[in-house]
Amino acid sequence: MIKKGTKIAKPKGKLGILIPGVGAVATTFIAGVEAIKNNYARPFGSLTQMGTIRLGKRTEKRTPLIKDFVPLASLSDLVFGGWDINNETCYETAVRSGVLEQQLLNRVRPQLERIRPWKAVFSQEYVKRLEGTHLKKGKNKYELALQVIEDIKNFKSENNLDRLVMIWCGSTEVYLQPSEVHSSLKKFEKGLKKDDPQITSSMIYAYAALSLGIPYANGAPNLSVDFPAMVELAQRKHAPICGKDFKTGQTLMKTIIAPGLKSRLIGLSGWFSTNILGNRDGEVLDEPQSLKTKEESKLSVLDQILQPQLYPELYKDYHHQVRINYYPPRGDNKEGWDNIDIFGWLGYPMQIKVNFLCRDSILAAPLCLDLVLFLDLAQRTRMYGIQEWLSFYFKSPQCAPQLYPEHDLFIQLMKLKNTLRYLRGEDLITHLGLEYYD
Ligand SMILES: NC(=O)c1ccc[n+]([C@@H]2O[C@H](COP(=O)([O-])OP(=O)(O)OC[C@H]3O[C@@H](n4cnc5c(N)ncnc54)[C@H](O)[C@@H]3O)[C@@H](O)[C@H]2O)c1
Repeated sequence: MIKKGTKIAKPKGKLGILIPGVGAVATTFIAGVEAIKNNYARPFGSLTQMGTIRLGKRTEKRTPLIKDFVPLASLSDLVFGGWDINNETCYETAVRSGVLEQQLLNRVRPQLERIRPWKAVFSQEYVKRLEGTHLKKGKNKYELALQVIEDIKNFKSENNLDRLVMIWCGSTEVYLQPSEVHSSLKKFEKGLKKDDPQITSSMIYAYAALSLGIPYANGAPNLSVDFPAMVELAQRKHAPICGKDFKTGQTLMKTIIAPGLKSRLIGLSGWFSTNILGNRDGEVLDEPQSLKTKEESKLSVLDQILQPQLYPELYKDYHHQVRINYYPPRGDNKEGWDNIDIFGWLGYPMQIKVNFLCRDSILAAPLCLDLVLFLDLAQRTRMYGIQEWLSFYFKSPQCAPQLYPEHDLFIQLMKLKNTLRYLRGEDLITHLGLEYYD
């Protein structure tokens, strides 16, 4: 275990951000960073840019900004590169995605036009609704991984980068469960050479990154680094990993509301969630196998938070249903409805209705920024393998196999902040507070 107050290497030089899947989320992230750097807009939603952290006793009044408390890379040191199956610049994709206004995009156009994704590793077998034109060709999956490694090395030397981080912002791949080929690094590498169908495109990018010791975050719900072979590779190459599936929109609301209901011992008889969305992500999720990957991720959160095994009378038999509907007119502006059937004192029923008109990529972009900065911090701190303290950002947080994932947003935030306090040698906050009354 890393020591309290351990030495953290300074973020010297440039940090390269590698993004497989330069679509709506990635371009909103990149355009946003460029806009913020130039003071055209503010980084709302980003803990690393705007969050503070309380240190010591409440009477000490020490609450620095997180970015002043831990040594994070600065936005002016970030350099972006990525892969996509479409051969269009980041600017063209941002315009097509329709998330940001043209006026803002015009102001960062030169920076976005400079980024043209490299050819992708892609097979329609894993994302059925997409067809690619800008693709790598190789004898087998191992050769494709070597080509990705080559892209990364070129990007690093051409831009004189000091460090790198990879974040998957690609489409959601079909549902897969870990199998034999995922069980060890040796079997996985053999599988790459034999073109094993259980090895998806996202795994090939992750393998390339981890082989070079580059940290990896998975923003989508598909299997990518959450199996033994990748954990082994991450440990061996000293790379931090985390995932999966950015916690935005409806699931974010769920993990805010459910801990509140449970803390007041309010029972739940049903939670029905439905969504309409019309962006490319929605189109991909309109296909049953990609949809299953997403639904699994969305369904898992309530049981862990409500602990029906400890509170059977309150939470044993609730109905939880999640629907995602592709509805093109809505574009990136998703709408989610939740009907929550609850019961209180003496069993009297009540209902909560939530109608969240959100903007998917606007909610996801600050998470991308925080994740790349924190993963880079983790690596400079010599924290390798699964980074459970970053659960705060994910719908299905990756954790050690003997643990259950923590879904409660407030516990996740406390875990994240206590990790930062620990790294800097500060006391952990317990919220006991009896000493103020002695
Ligand atoms: N926006 C959110 O709130 C949110 C939340 C959680 C998860 N996600 C996930 O983030 C991902 C990105 O979302 P988005 O809205 O930007 O979708 P998008 O469709 O706009 O972008 C995804 C991009 O990935 C590309 N792609 C697909 N497979 C690829 C491959 N093998 N190599 C390179 N590029 C590939 C596509 O061409 C597309 O440009 C999706 O998987 C989505 O489910 C988004």
